[in-house]
Amino acid sequence: MNKRIPEQVIEDINFQSDIVEVISEYVGLQRKGKNYLGLCPFHEEKTPSFTVTPAKQMFYCFGCNVGGNLFSFLMKQENWTFPETIEYLAHKYGIELPEQELSRTQTAKQKQRRRWQQIYEWTADYYNRVLMDLPEGEPGRKYFIQRGISEETIKSFRLGFAPDRWDSLLLALQKQGVGFTELAAAGLALEKEVKSPGSGRIGYYDRFRNRIIFSILNQKHQPIAFGGRVLDDSLPKYLNSPESAYYSKGNHLYGINKAYPGIREKGFALLVEGYLDVLSLQQAGYPNTVASLGTALTTEQAKLLRRYTQRVVLCYDSDAAGTKATLRAGEILAEAGLRVEIPRLTGANDPDEFLRISGQESFHKALQAATTYIEFKYQTLLKELSIRTIPEKAELLARISPDIHRIQSPAEREGYERFLSLELGLSLEAVQAELKNAARNKVKYQPEDKYLPLKQDNYVKDRDNKINNPDHNSEMVPAVPLGIYRAERMLLRLILDNLAFLAVVEEQLGGDFWQIQEYQQIFRYLKESNLNKIGIIENNFDEKVQSKLANLLVEELDLSQPERILEDCIRVIRSSQEEESMLELQTRMTSLEKSGDLMGAMELLREMGERLKRGEM
Ligand code: GTP
Ligand code: MN
Repeated sequence: MNKRIPEQVIEDINFQSDIVEVISEYVGLQRKGKNYLGLCPFHEEKTPSFTVTPAKQMFYCFGCNVGGNLFSFLMKQENWTFPETIEYLAHKYGIELPEQELSRTQTAKQKQRRRWQQIYEWTADYYNRVLMDLPEGEPGRKYFIQRGISEETIKSFRLGFAPDRWDSLLLALQKQGVGFTELAAAGLALEKEVKSPGSGRIGYYDRFRNRIIFSILNQKHQPIAFGGRVLDDSLPKYLNSPESAYYSKGNHLYGINKAYPGIREKGFALLVEGYLDVLSLQQAGYPNTVASLGTALTTEQAKLLRRYTQRVVLCYDSDAAGTKATLRAGEILAEAGLRVEIPRLTGANDPDEFLRISGQESFHKALQAATTYIEFKYQTLLKELSIRTIPEKAELLARISPDIHRIQSPAEREGYERFLSLELGLSLEAVQAELKNAARNKVKYQPEDKYLPLKQDNYVKDRDNKINNPDHNSEMVPAVPLGIYRAERMLLRLILDNLAFLAVVEEQLGGDFWQIQEYQQIFRYLKESNLNKIGIIENNFDEKVQSKLANLLVEELDLSQPERILEDCIRVIRSSQEEESMLELQTRMTSLEKSGDLMGAMELLREMGERLKRGEM
């Protein structure tokens, strides 16, 4: 035990703390007689095997055999040292800690963090005061009134307004003793070089100007980041304060400060896309609403929700991009062991608009009529695929198979199998066999089908289930996996729309990863000639390439979030490259084994293990 911490403090903590209370903040616990049961935070599981025994103030997981007391729980969960854990608990229970007990570096770090927090506090307060009390806040007040956001919501979410000036926050915080450099280091002001080139003098200006301010609050209601929305349609619509040592957007959810008790109370979480959706839904009686912070939902965010509930209702935007995002988020949530439901909000693009147009009653009804994730996926697939022929039905089953296999309860799984059997007019046995089959050949459909619209895919099977390729008559195509095909097509189109992406792609993937030969040619040509889109059309490629190119340029694709799509495509292609090299390793290992070089084979086996551990599969 650590000498620097007085025994008395540890005793006091032991006396005052309650393991159930503390662990409940991380794990949804259900009472089972004298013990509590929940999903283990230390390993992936879908049926609870994590127990807490209040009588002994101990926890134990029967799944991964990890156990201990309150201190070891927090150290493991938060990755804290023992003194950090003590500090947290002492603070939580109002137990005084002698200051000198912390090491010098710890004290320095703590001071820094407190200062950062203080600056964020002052900033939130300042922007909020502008919005609520100052003449400069008028445009902000008007905006919120127009969007139906109440004063109470403004207060409780610590909303604000940044005046249309270059130095309003700089000056306001200067009064609190915050220097310009310090404010810039905190991400709230930006540097600029003062005119006269070469002078080397640095000036500062506010990051947020003439924007509505959303304070991103943690569970303790403290601001940890800010988002700023324009008042009109200008771009960029949102600016955000940067990520920092104290804040990473993929680990937080907007609205969680109010939602974490709200979710427990309602028994489910409502997950939406926009800050404004959170405001209007919470205001309309759904204090269980949260949004991911302008990124695709992360596993960490899913796990955060799992602390509070086992059920999530996904209310993303209803356009094509929203549907895609819903499918992906649903998958991530289901992976994390959450039950996912999706309501149909017809006639509106997002839940905020739906509430405004259709009212609370309709929203409530829509929630009650929400379909499960699998039904939603099925309906979405139906829009893409025809299910006239048996092979088409098989493809649909293959695509939905991973979702069915994820279901733990055999009864529930059979429920879906029966549903599919009815829908598709196939026997239950046939459906089950197809699903099983697909699970075995999983890789085939694994690169996610994100790059819609599928209808326009040249390589997909046509209605008669012949693989055909309309842009080059009846030519049979080489076996490029569908996911790769879509990713490459999207990538090339992005590059054609914005040549700046060419360098990014080359840097990330190299110059000759293209599996579609025509694309490889176009890419090489673009790279070497520095030409624009028009130039490339005039170029004399051979007919095959030319027609591919024309096809690509006229195709209607959803390119509303180019950076995000770019990232996704690169990831899909990269993971397929890694998958290949794993296969190569495996082949090499087998041949080494055969040749009797067991040491060599072991070495390769070890390397494969390492890669799997690193998540490169
Ligand atoms: P309204 O459209 O006015 O209802 O606002 P919204 O908050 O609902 O925004 P929207 O549905 O367009 O976008 C959803 C979320 O994506 C936003 O709340 C932001 O978190 C994020 N987002 C949208 N546009 C941008 C942008 O230009 N930059 C960044 N960084 N994030 C954005
Ligand atoms: Mn919106």
